[in-house]
Amino acid sequence: MIGYAQDQEAEDPLGISYEIGSFTDLSLYRENCFDVALSTMALMDGPDFPAAMRAIYRVLKPGGILCFSVLHPCFITPAIKWIIEEDGSHSGLRIGRYFDRSPFVERWRFSKRPDPDDVPLFSVPRFPRTLSDYINPVSDAGFQNLRIAEPRPSDSVSSRHPWLKRWWDHAPLVLFLSAIKPC
Ligand SMILES: C[S@@+](CC[C@H](N)C(=O)[O-])C[C@H]1O[C@@H](n2cnc3c(N)ncnc32)[C@H](O)[C@@H]1O
Repeated sequence: MIGYAQDQEAEDPLGISYEIGSFTDLSLYRENCFDVALSTMALMDGPDFPAAMRAIYRVLKPGGILCFSVLHPCFITPAIKWIIEEDGSHSGLRIGRYFDRSPFVERWRFSKRPDPDDVPLFSVPRFPRTLSDYINPVSDAGFQNLRIAEPRPSDSVSSRHPWLKRWWDHAPLVLFLSAIKPC
């Protein structure tokens, strides 16, 4: 993905530089140098979330903003199952093992792509966490003004992708969190 991004930058420069590193080790960067740290659906895939919060706090400028999304820990648990009625409708979500933090490897593919059977399953490391496992390390790192959001698919997105309607009806798939490094 970084290779594609670097090629794109070479073709149509926007002044973006791409580096490869871990969100738990941002020693490549000096402290207080970024206005914003933005992460999309990645911080859930590392084993040490508190270390990531401390690393990001260090490199943000005072007043800098942290903003990230992860799979919603209350609903995407190790034992999740849709409750499906006889007519095929989804009437709810059964949640289990919310407190089970055992890491595991999920074998997965994008089932909604046009040719799902043509691609091999890929492996994703999973580190189940509770809601407090996400929120407390953010404030422990020093961030303030924590806010969370639990977005639902919009009407237009749900009508283009009907499978998303069950998420509109019953549970948030994604948790958004934002916070500020105090001045
Ligand atoms: C679910 S993918 C999301 C990718 C992309 N942000 C998106 O929304 O399509 C999770 C990403 O997190 C990356 N990742 C996992 N552990 C990481 C770490 N310690 N530091 C940086 N990235 C990491 C993985 O390589 C993977 O690309």
